[in-house]
Amino acid sequence: MKFIIGNWKMNGNMDEKESLLSAISGIKTKNKVVLCLPYTLLYGENFGISIGAQDVSNHDKGSFTGDISASMLKDANIQYVIVGHSDRRLYHNETNELVKEKATIAIKNGIIPIVCVGETIEEKNSGHTTSVIKKMLLESIPKDGEYIIAYEPRWAIGSGLTPTNNEIVTAVKTIFDNLPNPMPILYGGSVNQDNALDIATIPYIDGLLIGGASLKSETFLPIIKSIN
Ligand code: 13P
Repeated sequence: MKFIIGNWKMNGNMDEKESLLSAISGIKTKNKVVLCLPYTLLYGENFGISIGAQDVSNHDKGSFTGDISASMLKDANIQYVIVGHSDRRLYHNETNELVKEKATIAIKNGIIPIVCVGETIEEKNSGHTTSVIKKMLLESIPKDGEYIIAYEPRWAIGSGLTPTNNEIVTAVKTIFDNLPNPMPILYGGSVNQDNALDIATIPYIDGLLIGGASLKSETFLPIIKSIN
C-alpha cells in the first residue's frame, strides 16, 4: 500500500472539489488516497477518500483569531494534517519547534500529521542536504504516536525539477535511519504522471505528496492509476 496524497495549497473551490472526488470515486485502488484541502472545503460529508487539512494550531483553543485547532479538525472528520510544509516555514516563519508542537497536538486529537522536511537549493549546492534533513527531522517529529514524514526538497516544489533517484534514496534513507520507530516516508516536489511510478518505487518510499498535479482529475487520476 502506498500513500497518494494531494495538497491543494490555496487553490480550489466547491465545484472543483466535487468534480475531483466524483472522478476518484470511480477508481479501484489498493493505495491510500488522501486530499489535503483548504479549510473552506473541509466540511463534514462522506468523501469516499480520506481528507486532510494543510495546517493546524499548536494551541488547544482560545484567543487565536484565524487559527483552527486539532479538535476542530477532528470534529470535521479530518484524518490527516500537513505540518511544517515549506510554504509555512517560508512565509510564516514556522520553526522546527512549532512544527513539533503542531504534530504533537494533532496526534493527541487522533489526527495523523504529515511532517514535511527538505533542503533549499543553497543547502543542496553546499552539500548540506543530509545534515539539514537530519536536524529538521529530529527537531520536528513528535515524541510518540503515529505520523508520516514527507521529504520535499524546497527547490523541487512547483519547479518541474526533481532530485535524481540516488539523491532521493540518500535523503529518505537518512530519514529512515533517524526515525525512532518506522513511519511511512513520502516524496513530494514536481511529481507528475510521468515520474510518479518511478519515484513511488524507490526504496524506502511509501508514497507521494503531490501539489499542482492533484488539482485536476486529468493530472491526478493518471498518477493514482499508474501506482496501482
Ligand atoms: P508540486 O507537486 O506542485 O511541486 O508541490 C509539491 C508540494 O509542495 C506538495 O506539498
